[in-house]
Amino acid sequence: MRVVLAYSGGLDTSAILALLREQGHEVITVTVAVGQEEELRGVEEKAYRLGASKHYTINAVDEFADRYIAMAVKANALYEDRYPLGTALARPLIAEKVAEVAKREGADAVAHGCTAKGNDQVRFDTVLKYYLGDDFKIIAPVRELRLTRAEAAKILARHGIDVGVHKKYSIDENLWTRSIEGGEIDDPLAEPPEEAFAWTVAPEKAPDEPLYLEIGFERGVPVSVNGERMKLSKLVSLLNSLVGGHGFGRVDHIENRVVGLKSREVYEAPAALTLIEAHRDLEKMVYTPHELRFKKLLDGYWSDLVYQGLWVEPLRVTLEKAIDELNRWVTGTVRVKVYKGSLRVVGRWSPYSSYSREAIDYNEGWYPSDEEARGFITIWSMHSLAAAKARGLRG
Ligand code: ARG
Repeated sequence: MRVVLAYSGGLDTSAILALLREQGHEVITVTVAVGQEEELRGVEEKAYRLGASKHYTINAVDEFADRYIAMAVKANALYEDRYPLGTALARPLIAEKVAEVAKREGADAVAHGCTAKGNDQVRFDTVLKYYLGDDFKIIAPVRELRLTRAEAAKILARHGIDVGVHKKYSIDENLWTRSIEGGEIDDPLAEPPEEAFAWTVAPEKAPDEPLYLEIGFERGVPVSVNGERMKLSKLVSLLNSLVGGHGFGRVDHIENRVVGLKSREVYEAPAALTLIEAHRDLEKMVYTPHELRFKKLLDGYWSDLVYQGLWVEPLRVTLEKAIDELNRWVTGTVRVKVYKGSLRVVGRWSPYSSYSREAIDYNEGWYPSDEEARGFITIWSMHSLAAAKARGLRG
């Protein structure tokens, strides 16, 4: 068979490549670059060493930023209020690229390294079915053989390759999030060890001077930092290093997986958490209270669909139309202050803001008359006071 393998260069997918070759298949490897700088080094060379007949490295960083991350900001996407969805967002894009190569190469099957316990298998298989059809062969050796990390390491040892078995954690990295799982992290009571982190300094070791940043947004999309315009992928990596350098961006939470398990997850996402916080704040400057409350529902639905591997769900696209429409007014600037692991919005401005300093000032400008205020309060409280009376709760 001619198999197209989604290849990260890590332990599992390297073992799969070796295994498929041992079984006599032709293997074409595809690595999709979505900002995982560390991991990408030497991947192509490793693929050929393990017997790939052809290797593709597809640079999709800007596509990831412009098609996926931009929408995640507009939707304030945080699964269960904490996880900025890095892995969940990148999987559909990776699967789409793998499907494209499978078609171009006339492959008989596609393969990936997902386990039976994770969400990623759902995300990959669903998108692969969408592009390649229900009956296209998907090979998932880790799931099929229940391949352990130790077994994967043994397979690789047969080929004289050491892919860092000593690595304690299972790490998935892209421009938006670094996801850290496994090892001591599986103990939900234990504090994640400092060595698990790579994008953020320990807050205790962060600089003593606070960092101020001014982030510019246009229609909900971040476009500048401190007045300097830049493309989104660059803006995100700049914020990752600036904000991460001040110790902000760590997440430690218990997450409900699609596959019925709770897991303890640790993430690093300095730019994601900064941009979502700033974006949310700007939304409050421009939305009516009705828009603000309804937007929360849209955001929650969108984030759930993305997390749950349903990128292909038609409702996602419908939600995005409403999310885009509301974001038409989310233009302006937000000032944030980052200090030793904490971040606060300390100022905001928008040309579409209905905030009026004159109206809110007690000493000047518009002021409702006593009569207007009393009339409003009478009618406003009528439902509640009448119901309380009917239930015998008041005289
Ligand atoms: N729990 C996260 C998710 O489901 C992260 C998964 C990370 N994957 C990994 N191979 N470490 O999106």
